[in-house]
Amino acid sequence: MCLSKWKTFFLFLSLFIVQGVMATDCACELTSGEKPFPKDKLLSMETSAVACNQKIQSAKVSEEASLRLGLHKRLLQLQDEVSVLEQEDDGGLYGAVSLRIIELELAEILQLINRLNTTHNMHLSLSTNVTATVQQLTEELKQLEEFDQMQIIQKLEENKGLQRSLAQCHEELQATPPPPTLPPGTCPRRRLAQVNGPSTYTITEYGTSYYYGSWGQDPQPGPGRENWYWLVALTSSDVFANYVLLYRSFSALVAGVDSMVISISNDNPTTNTIQGPNVVMYGDALYYGCYNTPSVCRFNVTSREITTAALPANTGINNKFPFCHLGACYVYTDLDLMTDDSGVWVAYASEESYGNVMLSQVESGDVPKLGRTLKTSLHKRTATNTFMACGVLYATRYVDKETEEVFYSFDTRTGVERYDLDISFKKMQTNIQSLNYNPSDHRLYAYANAYAISYDVIFE
Ligand SMILES: *[C@@H]1O[C@H](CO)[C@@H](O)[C@H](O)[C@H]1NC(C)=O
Ligand SMILES: *[C@@H]1O[C@H](CO)[C@@H](O)[C@H](O)[C@H]1NC(C)=O
Ligand SMILES: *[C@@H]1O[C@H](CO)[C@@H](O)[C@H](O)[C@H]1NC(C)=O
Repeated sequence: MCLSKWKTFFLFLSLFIVQGVMATDCACELTSGEKPFPKDKLLSMETSAVACNQKIQSAKVSEEASLRLGLHKRLLQLQDEVSVLEQEDDGGLYGAVSLRIIELELAEILQLINRLNTTHNMHLSLSTNVTATVQQLTEELKQLEEFDQMQIIQKLEENKGLQRSLAQCHEELQATPPPPTLPPGTCPRRRLAQVNGPSTYTITEYGTSYYYGSWGQDPQPGPGRENWYWLVALTSSDVFANYVLLYRSFSALVAGVDSMVISISNDNPTTNTIQGPNVVMYGDALYYGCYNTPSVCRFNVTSREITTAALPANTGINNKFPFCHLGACYVYTDLDLMTDDSGVWVAYASEESYGNVMLSQVESGDVPKLGRTLKTSLHKRTATNTFMACGVLYATRYVDKETEEVFYSFDTRTGVERYDLDISFKKMQTNIQSLNYNPSDHRLYAYANAYAISYDVIFE
């Protein structure tokens, strides 16, 4: 193997070793589905390479050289002696003696040749062994190279995937949105068929500070507030909030300007402050889970008055029956307040329902109270959220980072349950912390990892 090749080889080796060392020193935890770099293999390769080098540079090489040199000198000497013998050929005794000396000399030379032959054979086998080792090392190095290329190719594929999604997004942006199929405020009395969009997607004035929250439009707004939007971010521990923000327009919400801060309490958390993200506004009032109590709180935005409706005894709160997916649960999502054309609903679970979703209508009046209550067979922890549309309860589940799916429905008129809905929709963020249907514009409002997102809902 020529020197330049060896140089390249060791350059490769040292590069890999540097990578290996860095991987050992690095303290951060890397979660990766990819194969780890085979550092052990590299180290054993390094050992083989060093051993191989030592063998080649051993004294055995010089031994053969000195034998050759010795033999060469003896042969020259022999030549001299033979020519002297030729000159001194007198046919007598001296000639016979000289001949005997030459014979002895020849015998020694033959011994030398044998030793040289043995040494040479040994070197041949050594050289064969070294060739084999070098071949083996070369192959292993190739494998390592492929390993590295694999990762590069993988990243290239990922980039391609991202580019495809980007192109798809562009296409979807350019595609004309489907015409609104329903006049605002009407209830289609038909099944949910599609969730399209997102139709809006924005960060709020909080930036990415608060991962839990909720937003939307009041389906029964006070006069002059038809275009208003509301926003609640759980500003304490991703669990509690003590005020609601109101915006006069969607652009004000997007720009994060001119928000009206409507305070529920000076402290957070305390009695009657907001607990959990799934809150809604209806009829100029905010409905939410009361702090540390199994009750629905109603906060009148005009009078700032708080009234409550108690949920059945043993209703789970404080993370007893939250929404979940296989990876995690959404903290403090025990209660889910929802709106549809018939008003406000609340989904929850209790020990009596064995953690299955219970559904109650929240009747308004001077003091809110629970109306019709229905039991479902849907285990609350198997859903990521629920929403109501036209008297039908729908539940979603987490499919993957990009996709959420409406998989379940419960018709409050017939009591019929279905688990085979397959209405998936595209997420813009991995987790959806709150989801609610607005019957006046037939849109779903989602709050996902600090982003305010809305979707168009299409009925059959
Ligand atoms: C050298 O060694 C080989 C193998 O041992 C043998 O076959 C060959 O005859 C030897 N040659 C001489 C010149 O001794
Ligand atoms: C060459 O390798 C063989 C088998 O691995 C071994 O028996 C032999 O001793 C080796 N020869 C030398 C000179 O290292
Ligand atoms: C909120 O308070 C105002 C003013 O007191 C009142 O007119 C309105 O009916 C209240 N709304 C609810 C939902 O109680």
